[in-house]
Amino acid sequence: MQVQSITQTQPDLAAVKARQQQTWASGDYAVIGTTLQLVGESLCEALDLRPGSAVLDVAAGNGNATLAAARRACDVVSSDYVPALLDSARARARAEGHDVRFEQADAENLPFPDASFDVVLSTFGVMFTPNQEQAAAELVRVCRKGGRIGLANWTPDSFIGDIFKLIAGYLPPPAGVKSPLLWGTEKRLRELFPGHQVEAPRRQHNFRFRSPRHWLDTFRTYYGPTHKAFAALDASKQKTLAEDLLGLIDKHNRGNEAMVLPSEYLEAVITIR
Ligand SMILES: C[S@@+](CC[C@H](N)C(=O)[O-])C[C@H]1O[C@@H](n2cnc3c(N)ncnc32)[C@H](O)[C@@H]1O
Repeated sequence: MQVQSITQTQPDLAAVKARQQQTWASGDYAVIGTTLQLVGESLCEALDLRPGSAVLDVAAGNGNATLAAARRACDVVSSDYVPALLDSARARARAEGHDVRFEQADAENLPFPDASFDVVLSTFGVMFTPNQEQAAAELVRVCRKGGRIGLANWTPDSFIGDIFKLIAGYLPPPAGVKSPLLWGTEKRLRELFPGHQVEAPRRQHNFRFRSPRHWLDTFRTYYGPTHKAFAALDASKQKTLAEDLLGLIDKHNRGNEAMVLPSEYLEAVITIR
């Protein structure tokens, strides 16, 4: 009997990560990040942050959860792999008079000692790492026993989840890389954080824009994933992607001419045992 060898192509995760880093550095995510501020505030309340706690924000962007923790008198370290976004976060922290430490860092390889934080946060950040297991292990490693990890992750059926699925129809993601939207399911969180206590209620964030067109122009210009997707398509595909996105908004918009669109996410609190 002939034994057929099955060779499975493993994705080059380092290459995927390098491309993703370029994507997040494109446009200007800070413009979007400021609209998500409530998510960081809500997560810090869910964690019932204690003033003076050592808090790490991972994949912090322009400082959504960073500012929320600093406003609660915590000692905050804010990290991301896009330096320009940390510069925006630094300017915001300085404007409010917070003494935050900023570190350029890969979420999959955090440059911090074991058990060095009471709380580790990531709002819509760590969910985008290509090596999910490694990223989760890093969050656990730097958090002390009894400490908490707080995450905000878009769910697969959310508006943002639908956008990622729509874009994947135009530009298929690299084969073998797990969907970031898995982080928006309790099942996957239990797999990624085995042995730890996971609570992950569903929340909604309302995207509020002057009109669907205002949303489209903003996301096309500033949000890396949509910015890069449009840039990679020819003119006719750009037109259909824009129409598809506006169609998606139409389905869920409850703001009539303006856009008020709820997008679901998991607000996870994971207690390290
Ligand atoms: C959608 S933004 C969220 C930013 C911010 N946490 C917020 O709530 O607005 C995703 C962020 O994750 C960062 N990011 C993605 N993968 C990363 C990685 N492997 N290491 C560090 N940062 C990463 C990006 O640079 C970007 O700032």
